[in-house]
Amino acid sequence: MIVSIIVAVAENGVIGSDNQLIWHLSDDLKNFKKITSGHCIIMGRKTFESIGRPLPNRTNIILSRNKNYKTEGCIVLDSIGQALTYSKKKGEEEAFIIGGQAVYNAAYDIADKLYLTKVNASPTGDAFFKKIQLDHWKLISHRRIKRNEHNDFDYEMMELERKKS
Ligand SMILES: NC(=O)c1ccc[n+]([C@@H]2O[C@H](COP(=O)([O-])OP(=O)(O)OC[C@H]3O[C@@H](n4cnc5c(N)ncnc54)[C@H](OP(=O)(O)O)[C@@H]3O)[C@@H](O)[C@H]2O)c1
Repeated sequence: MIVSIIVAVAENGVIGSDNQLIWHLSDDLKNFKKITSGHCIIMGRKTFESIGRPLPNRTNIILSRNKNYKTEGCIVLDSIGQALTYSKKKGEEEAFIIGGQAVYNAAYDIADKLYLTKVNASPTGDAFFKKIQLDHWKLISHRRIKRNEHNDFDYEMMELERKKS
């Protein structure tokens, strides 16, 4: 099973503020939906609460260390390892880590693929993605989107695969 991270990161590493996304990037959202539909998505409890509902047509796995945390339409587990084991047992071929900061940090070193949206902005925020060493990753595809009425900023969407060491 492939483990993939999907994330949108500003030039200064910011990914969110006050448990919210800080931009509207329509093409990026469409891409997120297309790539993750039909798959297991793994997210932190705070990201789930920020989204506010299970995302349709996907197996929503929420990570929480609170044994009593339950929410309808989602699986709640207490580690990345458990979430990946669950996904594998379901026959998943590509599981997606969809955030936020804490979960990206826990999964970064084991991810095989990175769907990276680099946003041409430096907003204020309180959630960050770690510095990506692009030379550890092989570029598979690359698309540039210009700022327009549907996209708040210029950005680049990249698909990267971890280089074998
Ligand atoms: N730009 C993007 O692509 C993107 C994507 C997603 C989210 N975000 C942003 O990221 C921010 C949220 O990040 P965050 O770090 O504050 O929260 P988070 O990672 O979404 O959730 C943190 C919570 O998840 C649980 N958790 C995290 N790691 C765990 C682990 N290894 N094992 C078990 N449980 C674990 C804990 O829940 P309990 O406290 O219940 O134990 C923890 O408090 C928001 O601003 C959001 O908008 C950005």
